[in-house]
Amino acid sequence: MKFSRALAVAMTLSLLLALRAADGLPQRELDAARDACARLAALLANGLAKSLAEDGPGYALEICSHQAPAVTAFASKESGMEIRRTSLRVRNPKNAPDDWERSVLEQFETRRAAGEPVESLEQSEVVPGEGGLRVLRYMKAIPTQAMCLQCHGSEPAPDVVQALPGLYPGDKAVGFYEGDIRGAFSVRKALAELAPSASAPGTTPKTSSAKVPEAPAAAPSTQPPR
Ligand code: HEC
Repeated sequence: MKFSRALAVAMTLSLLLALRAADGLPQRELDAARDACARLAALLANGLAKSLAEDGPGYALEICSHQAPAVTAFASKESGMEIRRTSLRVRNPKNAPDDWERSVLEQFETRRAAGEPVESLEQSEVVPGEGGLRVLRYMKAIPTQAMCLQCHGSEPAPDVVQALPGLYPGDKAVGFYEGDIRGAFSVRKALAELAPSASAPGTTPKTSSAKVPEAPAAAPSTQPPR
């Protein structure tokens, strides 16, 4: 009974892995991208909660404007992946989405409207990058929580309202409600290997030219066969 269940699990897993391989997504890098986003989310949330409690929203806003980019840069360095935050309505223009990010953010809005929970919205794709390299792109939606409303809600805290125009003259990141998609984490990771060109006729994978060491000529074995 136990064995057959283990077998079923193993078969499901290998099927899932095969599907992953078939859509060209590198599972290890994808898992690392997910981990990096989760770690960054935790770092940002901890810093924010502490700052809101100790300094109040107005001062926290100033801290946030320095710390969020610094923490995000730290997360990139630590994970060895390019990781950033973006949104369809940004506070900091440096966080504006590129074309791929914009289309994914729009797709997240559609999926949310169709009833998908914001917490589980993610999207990944391998795209061509510079120098013939492939690049893994991954995005994970960031839900708006109650704590965010002091700085991103429809009625931000009074000292936030006062400080915002000076810090972010073109701010578009207010007017959100709890449960809205505030934005997303976005990861880019250049993949070491070149795209497998199985579908291109007449090309041989580079690795096949590497000499495969020959199996040692059947050495007389002293071990009994198992
Ligand atoms: C104390 C004020 C404050 C609070 C509270 C706050 N933010 Fe922000 N948020 C900011 C500032 C300032 C920026 C711009 C920082 C930067 O340059 O990345 C920002 C930027 C962002 C961005 C990047 C996109 C953009 O608009 O530039 C996202 C995503 C984001 N916040 C999500 C959240 C979420 C989710 C919460 C709640 C968990 C939250 N914020 C709570 C102040 C705040």
